[in-house]
Amino acid sequence: MKIVVYLGTGGVGKTSVAAATALSRARRQADKSLVLTIDPALRLRTALNLRERTLEQVVPLVPPGKGELWAALLDVRATLDDAVNMYAKKGQADRILNHPIYAQIADSLVGMQELMAVERIDQLSRRGFEYIVVDTAPSRHAIEFLDKPMAFADLVGSGWVKLVGRTYQFVARTGMMSLGRKSMDLYARVESLLGANLVQQVLDFYSIFVSIAEGYARRAEKTVALLKDPAITEFRVVTTPQKALRDARFFFSALKERGFPLGTVYVNRVWPHDASGAGGAPGLESDVLAWYAGVRQSHLHAIEELRKEYSGQPVSILPLAELDRDVDGLDALERIASQLG
Ligand SMILES: Nc1ncnc2c1ncn2[C@@H]1O[C@H](COP(=O)(O)OP(=O)(O)OP(=O)(O)O)[C@@H](O)[C@H]1O
Ligand SMILES: [Mg+2]
Repeated sequence: MKIVVYLGTGGVGKTSVAAATALSRARRQADKSLVLTIDPALRLRTALNLRERTLEQVVPLVPPGKGELWAALLDVRATLDDAVNMYAKKGQADRILNHPIYAQIADSLVGMQELMAVERIDQLSRRGFEYIVVDTAPSRHAIEFLDKPMAFADLVGSGWVKLVGRTYQFVARTGMMSLGRKSMDLYARVESLLGANLVQQVLDFYSIFVSIAEGYARRAEKTVALLKDPAITEFRVVTTPQKALRDARFFFSALKERGFPLGTVYVNRVWPHDASGAGGAPGLESDVLAWYAGVRQSHLHAIEELRKEYSGQPVSILPLAELDRDVDGLDALERIASQLG
């Protein structure tokens, strides 16, 4: 199994490049390749046949590829429902799914998206996907999807959560207002991880959710181990020429700190035409050509800078051309796929 994780700041083309990567694999390799997307633009969503609350779907390719292309939306609620159905103790799934706090947990816990991305990777690997391309949330904080699951696993594994869960129930039953100091310390930790206002409800809910939480923690540890294994996982950054050096530095060191190597930086939206030699009629036409050539030159310069910065490191720096249209369908994805290297 291979996992490719795309990171990048907002609007740089992560979702487009992630989908193109899965497509490229499906064209060349006789296995099941899947892109796990987050919030794709409407037209790409339609092209990939994606709908809310559905699991992965096959994307028909014309002509067919050697393998299959699949796509899925990271749907936090559907992923959690799936985990509950799979891992709840017998007879408890419905109780959990219908618990009033359950919907709140699924919809509003800070960090839930990161927790569920890791759960989803586990679910997908069990369903026989051999090549999983993961798109991440549009921010520098996306890197936290590596931290949150482990922090959660540590908490659940610590046993303190269970203790506080029980203490909390006791407190609620007896109307006692204070908790012990150790419990309060844990509250503070849970609050900083998950956000303050839901903590009490979460702990209240915890006693029935415990089997899922423990199962989740075990799976998260396993999945994060897969993500740490360079034979299985490659981290890639998508950026644009304007932000290339800044983004690459940020993600390179954020990954390094966590013990994950960076494999590839794609510099997306590089202007593709070499207009430097083109003459053009004097006046507006040659002004436009000179402007285009100047911008393209600055794009190539950004790539050079990046290559210099990472010379001697096992990081590939690859350009992707600006298309003459939005990435709104399979044709455009094919055009990106053909450049991936
Ligand atoms: N190489 C390209 N040529 C032309 N347009 C592109 C290219 N790459 C991406 N785009 C366009 O840029 C916009 C953002 O792309 P995309 O949604 O893939 O980025 P993203 O990094 O996933 O964004 P977000 O951070 O919002 O999730 C889209 O309109 C897409 O069509
Ligand atoms: Mg996106």
